[in-house]
Amino acid sequence: MKRAVRSHRSGGFTYDFRRHLSFDRMDVGRYHHRAGHRFPAVIRTGISITINLENVQMLGNTFGRMFRVTACGESYGGGLGIIIDGMPAGMKITKGDIQPDLERRRPGQSEVDSPRKEKDQVEIFAGIGQDGHTTGAPLGLIIYNVDTMPQHIQEYRDYRWVMRPGHAELTHYVKYGEYADWCGAGRASGRETACRVAAGAVAKAILAREDIEVIGYVKQIYDAKCPEMTFEEVKAGLEENPNPLNCPHKETADKMMARALKAKADGDTLGGIVEFIARGVPAGLGEPVFDKMEATMAAGLMSIPAVKAVEWGAGFGFASMKGSESNDIMYYDEEGQVRFRTNHGGGFLGGISCGDDLVGRVCVKATSTLSIDQDTINVKEHKNTVLSPITRRDPTICGRIVPVVEAMVAICIVDHLMMARGFEAVQRLDKEYTI
Ligand SMILES: Cc1cc2nc3c(=O)[nH]c(=O)nc-3n(C[C@H](O)[C@H](O)[C@H](O)COP(=O)(O)O)c2cc1C
Repeated sequence: MKRAVRSHRSGGFTYDFRRHLSFDRMDVGRYHHRAGHRFPAVIRTGISITINLENVQMLGNTFGRMFRVTACGESYGGGLGIIIDGMPAGMKITKGDIQPDLERRRPGQSEVDSPRKEKDQVEIFAGIGQDGHTTGAPLGLIIYNVDTMPQHIQEYRDYRWVMRPGHAELTHYVKYGEYADWCGAGRASGRETACRVAAGAVAKAILAREDIEVIGYVKQIYDAKCPEMTFEEVKAGLEENPNPLNCPHKETADKMMARALKAKADGDTLGGIVEFIARGVPAGLGEPVFDKMEATMAAGLMSIPAVKAVEWGAGFGFASMKGSESNDIMYYDEEGQVRFRTNHGGGFLGGISCGDDLVGRVCVKATSTLSIDQDTINVKEHKNTVLSPITRRDPTICGRIVPVVEAMVAICIVDHLMMARGFEAVQRLDKEYTI
């Protein structure tokens, strides 16, 4: 339960999270660690936070209502674990269905991603019966971390109290105090997204049986922008011109690579836009109010580290369109099927799929870890300081994030298929009993 309490000084705010955090009072520049579980961590922004560590926990490691993906694992821990609940029985799922997508996300493969050499080999350890089919039991997957070298751990240890600007160390410290995982950003590392990709590959295998396909590609990095491309052009472009930035337009891909290499040479990083298209999604998926598919999918996409915005169809472009321009006009085709002349709505009406392609975009911020000095704070010493380049990083994560985006879209579609069909099954039962 969250309860607002009186602000101690002007400009400040205080919340009492009762069982979680209490922001007690404004205070600047003091820190002390008391024996026992309670200690105040005073941040230079001027917020004094009392954390009851007995009650602080990390929630929210499961995504989905019926097709439920639970993930665990830290950047420099032993590995990553994934449990998928809601697996249909009778499917042949092998490592071969999952590994190709993990290869697309894996670091250490090009000049524009992190040099960390993770093999990302997935093992399926649960949910498959003796005959090689899913049994309907939870599917259990594991990916071991292999490149967690002592020198990198030492680098993180040396800078343990120095907060990386743009990264999640400060907020994790606010929540977990000195128990926060300071090594490689722990759960806030992009490493956790391997779990999403593994689960997404399983979701894609389910979607393939329904003739639903999800593709993503990098549409923009910094000032290098792809022209408008159809689903077919994107697919063909990615097949004909495979590149680490996952851009289907050769000329733009070359320009993106030049920009990324220049940023790398400057010690800097770049962000961009990833577009995704889901083809074959039947009309009627999504629940009318809080569980609109547009909304739950946006939540899944926004949960990806470094994603700062999501838009559907014309998205923010709606702001400068008249209704006569933005409405997607319907018509019956020769076969009597409902079609749309345009897809400004991104495949949704009222948050429910309308049978057209689902089309959306996420905005990816530039990687926060730089190879240039950055001003920041040391929370142990309560001093302003400078963070020097310490660690491995991606000059741009745009290319690697594509399979992560596809994964969240695929997981969400499977979840909504199950919600919609489960509902229909119950409805049929009701009819049987009332006739
Ligand atoms: C695949 C992937 C790789 C990432 N690699 C890095 C990295 O090397 N360095 C970095 O600072 N951030 C990296 N990030 C982004 C951070 O995890 C993210 O910025 C951080 O958790 C803070 O969250 P926020 O940007 O959503 O606020 C990566 C993200 C993804 C999805």
